[in-house]
Amino acid sequence: MQIKRVGVVGAGTMGNGIAQVFARAGYAVTLCDIEQRFLDRALDTIAKNLGRETAKGKITAQQEAVALQRITPVLGRGKLAECDFIVEAATEKFEIKTEILHDLDRIARPEIILASNTSSISITKLGAQTKRPELVIGMHFFNPVPVMKLVEVIRGLATSQPTFETVRELATALSKTPVEVNDAPGFVSNRVLMPLLNEAMYAVMEGVATAEAVDEVFKLGMAHPMGPLTLADFIGLDVCLDIMRGLYAGLGDPKYRPCPLLSRMVDAGWLGRKSGRGFYQY
Ligand SMILES: NC(=O)c1ccc[n+]([C@@H]2O[C@H](COP(=O)([O-])OP(=O)(O)OC[C@H]3O[C@@H](n4cnc5c(N)ncnc54)[C@H](O)[C@@H]3O)[C@@H](O)[C@H]2O)c1
Repeated sequence: MQIKRVGVVGAGTMGNGIAQVFARAGYAVTLCDIEQRFLDRALDTIAKNLGRETAKGKITAQQEAVALQRITPVLGRGKLAECDFIVEAATEKFEIKTEILHDLDRIARPEIILASNTSSISITKLGAQTKRPELVIGMHFFNPVPVMKLVEVIRGLATSQPTFETVRELATALSKTPVEVNDAPGFVSNRVLMPLLNEAMYAVMEGVATAEAVDEVFKLGMAHPMGPLTLADFIGLDVCLDIMRGLYAGLGDPKYRPCPLLSRMVDAGWLGRKSGRGFYQY
């Protein structure tokens, strides 16, 4: 089956980026969210991003207009019945994703692949919520989606080889680089990255060095584009805490214990860049 129309469920940070890259690659996109204002905000963001690409001479004004026209915003999920592939990028809550998958399982044609952009929920568990676990897969994009090249393609226990191959080809068609990963807490990206960020927080908590000093070490000594604490602030400290908790619960090893300083900062509402305060002031 040729994939012509792609459904994207959730039009937030990731959903709008995913819609943009599919539209830029020539796919028709049905973008779905629960409130009109979220769809309006997403289309606004996409228009601004595409406008920037035009201003830089990366695309023509004509290509910009065509890409925008390819995106159809919808509130009702019924419209997703026309889609040949669906990726869900809704809020990272198991109950929300389960409800969406139940509905998509009912709405989408039986042969349609249902992909999830989850950062931490088991693909095997999500697949088991549907009658088509062999067609459920992780397609994990990175933020900002139009810029970051990586797509982790995550196989659940029941994911079939043709499903995996279709998603790998789709990622390539979006000019991304797919990397195959099996289903395990944090996949590869967060399993390796988050303990680094968590350890950097322990170093600050124990007075080994200031946040600025830890970040300098990683920028100048390891050529990281930003230090781990700047990155944690950028991701959101609440998100970091949720992921560490997921790793700790899923892997059962004390080395994944969330740093107490991280928990305290989240309790204080210091969530990083988005709240104006984290390891740095914004
Ligand atoms: N933000 C990141 O850096 C990042 C990176 C990789 C993966 N992810 C994953 O992507 C997913 C989305 O994250 P985000 O950062 O875009 O979140 P977000 O909060 O920016 O957007 C989530 C969107 O989902 C919508 N939504 C909630 N319930 C819905 C429903 N029932 N039906 C349709 N839409 C619904 C919300 O209205 C919101 O617009 C999560 O699974 C997250 O773990 C996030």
